[in-house]
Amino acid sequence: MAIDTSKLCKTFNKWAETYDDSIAMADWGFDHYHDGIIWLCNQIHKSRCTKVIDLGCGTGVFAGMLQRIAPSIEYIGIDISNKMLNIAKRKSPNSTFVQTDFRHLDRWKTYLDNEYNCAVVSSYSFHHINDKEKIYLINNIFTKSKRHDLLFFIVDYAFINNSERSLLLEEQIKLGNYHIKKEIETEYYADLSSLKSALSKNLDISFERNGVWDWRITVQRYQ
Ligand SMILES: C[S@@+](CC[C@H](N)C(=O)[O-])C[C@H]1O[C@@H](n2cnc3c(N)ncnc32)[C@H](O)[C@@H]1O
Repeated sequence: MAIDTSKLCKTFNKWAETYDDSIAMADWGFDHYHDGIIWLCNQIHKSRCTKVIDLGCGTGVFAGMLQRIAPSIEYIGIDISNKMLNIAKRKSPNSTFVQTDFRHLDRWKTYLDNEYNCAVVSSYSFHHINDKEKIYLINNIFTKSKRHDLLFFIVDYAFINNSERSLLLEEQIKLGNYHIKKEIETEYYADLSSLKSALSKNLDISFERNGVWDWRITVQRYQ
């Protein structure tokens, strides 16, 4: 099913002003949020990246944290929602922000230039694009970048496979958590096993759990 980008933009424009409060409440969906963002910062620090491209940067929680701990890193945040971006710009005024649909790599591939030690990151945004789009985008990012050491770090909701998805869905129905059931049924939480087998054979994907359905994912070329 094609994703309605104008609807997505409207949804996030409406949520922008209260988004950071939702995170602070650490309610369902955000219960492991800060661990995920801190993991991203640690990965960037460990890999000594000098440039980070953030897909679906939202209100710039990661951008703000990165600016505080590593102000010399060049940061580019990409998001479809102008209202989310306006808040991000306030948190990280020295960064570059681009309003576009990150699925269209041709609109931002210029930032993937070759002279930098670059990483692409994405936090809690990848489940807004379907599995086919995820595979296409990841493969294409690595094809377009000539840097052998390019890294892609993702934190997002996902399942190890479809059986796990069905099991967790059943569990939520039994518990009467119909809002969570709806999320699982309507969002594009990745099936990590299928994602792994569909990626280009020169790409190495690894994942570790951040929470029950919250994952830390790393994609890189085989060395
Ligand atoms: C749940 S928020 C996560 C924001 C931020 N990364 C964070 O960790 O707080 C998802 C963000 O992804 C953006 N987004 C979703 N799909 C997008 C797309 N195809 N292109 C650009 N931005 C997108 C939304 O506008 C929203 O700001």
